[in-house]
Amino acid sequence: ELRGVVAMDGPSGTGKSTVSRRLAGGLRARYLDTGAMYRAVTLGVLQAEADLADAEAITRIAERAVVSAGTDPERPEIRLDGVDVGVEVRGEAVTKAVSAVAAVPAVRAILVARQQQIIAEALEAEVGIVVEGRDIGEVVAPDAGLKIYLTADAGVRARRRRAQDSAQGRDASIDEIQADVRRRDEFDSTRATSPLRRIADAIEVDTTELDVAGVLAVLNGLVIERG
Ligand code: C5P
Repeated sequence: ELRGVVAMDGPSGTGKSTVSRRLAGGLRARYLDTGAMYRAVTLGVLQAEADLADAEAITRIAERAVVSAGTDPERPEIRLDGVDVGVEVRGEAVTKAVSAVAAVPAVRAILVARQQQIIAEALEAEVGIVVEGRDIGEVVAPDAGLKIYLTADAGVRARRRRAQDSAQGRDASIDEIQADVRRRDEFDSTRATSPLRRIADAIEVDTTELDVAGVLAVLNGLVIERG
């Protein structure tokens, strides 16, 4: 059982969501997908037809948006203004736009505060929580007992993304997906506010050669050791 916080950071396509959910389920802990929250705000921005270069317009939308993220690892719901947007936020339009929205400092301030509130609720209830994103160990939960940085070779990440996409009925070429993964990583790692990076106290777990069960074995070992 987990009582504290596990911070799971890393780029897309490392299997972060799958292993975070299963890790939380196995530890009877809660689960928070912070990427889904950035995606929900992005959906709101697209619905309002705001200009992705207009940080003020994006900020106004983020201030009004009510984003709620469920923390049940079996059913991690994401809602925007009360509406379940779990399917829409995985779509291509949101995936293309999300990095620009997530780079707006005010958007991050709003969502980080909400994420910290969700973590505090879990700790108050004496339940552990696995939180996945890009800035969890550094910004959202700097006191997390265990910080993981998941990586994988870029080609493997693109292939995993394609398998995930086609399971959800979307088909894109491996080249397109690889280009998208690269573009998003580049954008997320070079933005001014809370860029994606491996911090010194995070343990790097390279998933290139591991399947989900293999990654979970490593993570469960680390939780027993340090979590
Ligand atoms: O994890 P996921 O691919 O759903 O995240 C979507 C995007 O949200 C990322 O590419 C990144 O731009 C942003 N994000 C972030 N900080 C987080 C989680 C996600 O900036 N903690």
